[in-house]
Amino acid sequence: MNPLSPLIKLEDPLFDHKKLEVFIKRDELIHPLISGNKWRKLKYNLLEFKQKNKKHLLSFGGAFSNHLLALAAACSEQDIKGTIIVRGDGPDPNNPTLRLANKMGINIQFTDRTNYKRRHDQDYQQELLEHYKADFLIPEGGTNLLALKGCAEIVDEIDLQLGKASDYITVSAGTGGTAAGLLSQCSNSKLQVFSALKGDFLEADILKLCDKNKQNLHVHKTFHFGGYAKHKPELISFINEFYEQHNILLDPIYTGKMFYGLLTEIREDKYPAGSSIVAIHTGGLQGNLGFNYRFGQKIPNPQIPV
Ligand SMILES: Cc1ncc(COP(=O)(O)O)c(C=O)c1O
Repeated sequence: MNPLSPLIKLEDPLFDHKKLEVFIKRDELIHPLISGNKWRKLKYNLLEFKQKNKKHLLSFGGAFSNHLLALAAACSEQDIKGTIIVRGDGPDPNNPTLRLANKMGINIQFTDRTNYKRRHDQDYQQELLEHYKADFLIPEGGTNLLALKGCAEIVDEIDLQLGKASDYITVSAGTGGTAAGLLSQCSNSKLQVFSALKGDFLEADILKLCDKNKQNLHVHKTFHFGGYAKHKPELISFINEFYEQHNILLDPIYTGKMFYGLLTEIREDKYPAGSSIVAIHTGGLQGNLGFNYRFGQKIPNPQIPV
């Protein structure tokens, strides 16, 4: 198993001024492609795959998604046969995520939006498993109970590395699976979840997956910047400035929004003086390649050989 991902203290005069200790849990460093929450979510799924002697894994993902590339890399490294159902019209040879995933040999099958909407439907899943002769299914984004177990371990690592429970842990959310896993283990830390998506569904979705420690859950709904494929100039500037200041790369879909939200709230005195805050870097940096490909070179690219 990998060693613990680093926990480092972020230096910023703002934090000194507010008397806060802010740390970053650098899960993006775990692996260049299976990074952050993807590694955490896949860990026990892949162990189960092996232990149950399964032969062929099937999953779902967007054409630029972190899950797609992480799964392709994990299958390639562990010599697992994998098929991924991708929403879209067909291969785009210039899409860096698809290009890299293709290189790693995962079977990519495109489906239209109407079919893709059925990805959570059990009959449809069964049809696909039979069609592709697959015997192990991982849902879109990798969120299932085994994924939650992997994400819960982040809290234990933080407690160990900090020598105590952090007052606050912050994380970005899409499906809420990562947050639910953290919450299951957050009996002594308050969990601040920053939604990457517009809407009012996230808190209920997290509590459906985990109803432990719910008094410690706080969902922030106002830092989504319009949703997944949207971006705003202030977020792009923030990511570039954060990189210059800390030499840490963020992505525009998840971690950029979370850090933007956290810093805004720190400025607004939402965290009491004397608190410790651990912000989890959930990875997703391969997404910067796809972002720059779609919108022009706006943010730094990660060091990934495309
Ligand atoms: C980099 C990154 N951070 C955070 C998330 C949010 O994870 P979840 O869907 O478990 O809420 C994702 C989504 O999969 C992601 O790729």
